[in-house]
Amino acid sequence: MTIGAGPRGPGVLVIEPMGNAGRFLVEAADRLGVRLYAATHEDVHDGYPDRLRAALAGVCATDLTDTPRALADMEAFCRQHAIAGVAPCFELFTPLAALLAERTGLPGNDPRLARAARNKILMGEAFAAVGIPAPRWALAHDDAEAHRAAREHGLGWPLVVKPAEQGGSWGVSVVDGPERLADAVGAARQYAYARPHGLALDTRVLLQEYVPGEEYSCDTVVADGVAYPLPVVAKDTTGGRYRIETGHTCPSGLPAPLVRAVQHTAARAALAVGVRNGIAHTELKIPPGTRTPYVIESGARLPGDNLCEIVEAATGVSEAAAQLRAVLGLVPDTVPSRTDAASIRFLLPEHGGVLREVVVPDLPGTHSEVYLRPGEAVPEPADSTCRIAHVVARARTAEQARGLAGRVAARSRVEVG
Ligand SMILES: Nc1ncnc2c1ncn2[C@@H]1O[C@H](COP(=O)(O)OP(=O)(O)OP(=O)(O)O)[C@@H](O)[C@H]1O
Ligand SMILES: [Mg+2]
Repeated sequence: MTIGAGPRGPGVLVIEPMGNAGRFLVEAADRLGVRLYAATHEDVHDGYPDRLRAALAGVCATDLTDTPRALADMEAFCRQHAIAGVAPCFELFTPLAALLAERTGLPGNDPRLARAARNKILMGEAFAAVGIPAPRWALAHDDAEAHRAAREHGLGWPLVVKPAEQGGSWGVSVVDGPERLADAVGAARQYAYARPHGLALDTRVLLQEYVPGEEYSCDTVVADGVAYPLPVVAKDTTGGRYRIETGHTCPSGLPAPLVRAVQHTAARAALAVGVRNGIAHTELKIPPGTRTPYVIESGARLPGDNLCEIVEAATGVSEAAAQLRAVLGLVPDTVPSRTDAASIRFLLPEHGGVLREVVVPDLPGTHSEVYLRPGEAVPEPADSTCRIAHVVARARTAEQARGLAGRVAARSRVEVG
């Protein structure tokens, strides 16, 4: 469906489209006839993939870490290019998008709550304020305070230690006992600035009660404050100290009432962090023996990890198109047009080092992407930066899709020396 045609279509300013979701916004904008513009730093723009650069109708070059300057530059840009919508993309700038929408009078998220979609302390407070099931938590500035908080708040073991502001599981550890707490606090505090813009981060550390059970994600598109649930996806992670996402499968395999429960809780979480015109990505766990989804986090952005591709392959729903329509003040199309399945599986190294060889076989119904070349450094498997490749499998059922992706992973060869 086309909203406008070619250069006459409405313009949307995406605040930092680098990263996984940007390419899906480009595809969706093309389909909808939306002119896509980017707000970014010129150095970051220099590193954009050619396809992204070529797809943009224009670029607002500014310093996104300097809020007053970025708002002034982007406001002037919006007027100059008759921008009709502002779409946050990179998670750490979602509050900036809400402020810009308010300032320009465009559809956007609640600016008073916007930081809650980025900062896990404010997020925990926002969930508690409206009674959304979420892990209990405490704050710590250092190791001594962490020991005291873990004892006094009775959070139990294992305990999750994470930075107040970060993504990609960077600095997140699951700690079995007090003897490992100091290391985990150090890992969570290591990020004072976020790459690649150099945005200053809140370096406080969050201790969270560990929520057991299977993990899911569910996105919600909100238009004029009305929440439209999107498909539920099952998420696989590594176990142990570091929880790195190893795969995602849609549909989730949950029975219909639990799908509804996950969608309902995800929608509440999105609204609680101020999403009013846009999309939110929410992660949830369901403790065994319960029917209660607990929210791990909700961000006012499209998902990463090629989840846009997985959801669309399985259901026909384009989350990126839904976001573009919502930020333009239009009702998003969230009706599934097929009942297939898709699964993505990431190839992780057993340890860090130098990549010697990577071979991912081609099986029918699958395609893959390799991120690193032989000779390149492979980080220790402590967060998602260690991933070497992914394979996507499409099939009739979730079980088949997951099985097929698993078979490709099992037959792949990854050698790290
Ligand atoms: N309180 C918790 N209980 C159980 N598991 C948790 C908890 N908090 C985090 N985890 C696990 O750690 C993973 C990463 O945590 P979290 O989502 O908070 O960090 P993140 O850096 O935002 O990650 P990402 O961007 O990869 O989603 C979660 O997906 C989940 O598997
Ligand atoms: Mg997460």
